[in-house]
Amino acid sequence: MATESIDMVEEAVEFPQELLAFIDEWKTKPGSLIMILHKTQQTFGYISRPSAEKLSYLTGIPLARIYGVITFYHFFKTTKPGKYKISVCLGTACYLKGGQDLINEVRAILNIAEDEVTKDGLFSVDPVRCIGCCGLAPVMTIGTETYGKLTKEQLPGIIAQYYNKAEKRTSAPAQ
Ligand code: FES
Repeated sequence: MATESIDMVEEAVEFPQELLAFIDEWKTKPGSLIMILHKTQQTFGYISRPSAEKLSYLTGIPLARIYGVITFYHFFKTTKPGKYKISVCLGTACYLKGGQDLINEVRAILNIAEDEVTKDGLFSVDPVRCIGCCGLAPVMTIGTETYGKLTKEQLPGIIAQYYNKAEKRTSAPAQ
């Protein structure tokens, strides 16, 4: 690789020192790629193309192999999640109580398909496995808030609260 293109990869996305140290520690260990990808996603919320390229450069693992792993495991995201990350539980208890209907409904309300983010960047929707409060099934979380015993009818009101929150933030007068 020419010096210029190495510099371009290095500058394309800035990795925090903690992530760089983690990569350095793990890159020679067996099974390192999954650990490094987890840490990268934890840091940025997703694994962008520039991040994947930089990981390839830092670890010497071919980009194609990195993408092979990212696309194999549904857990890894290649697009930036919405500001409000909606997770709908599809664990057994929630699934049996209509979790899939909830996920379909919330995507219909937001007009997005799987792995998409709303155009304003506010919402993304993902299925998750059991989040440990099965007694409240079906369950959905938005950021740190948990909504249990949820019905489809409650969804528009809940989503509207987040739109209002976002609007208040953007229209708040400068202090
Ligand atoms: S199955 Fe949904 S919280 Fe356990």
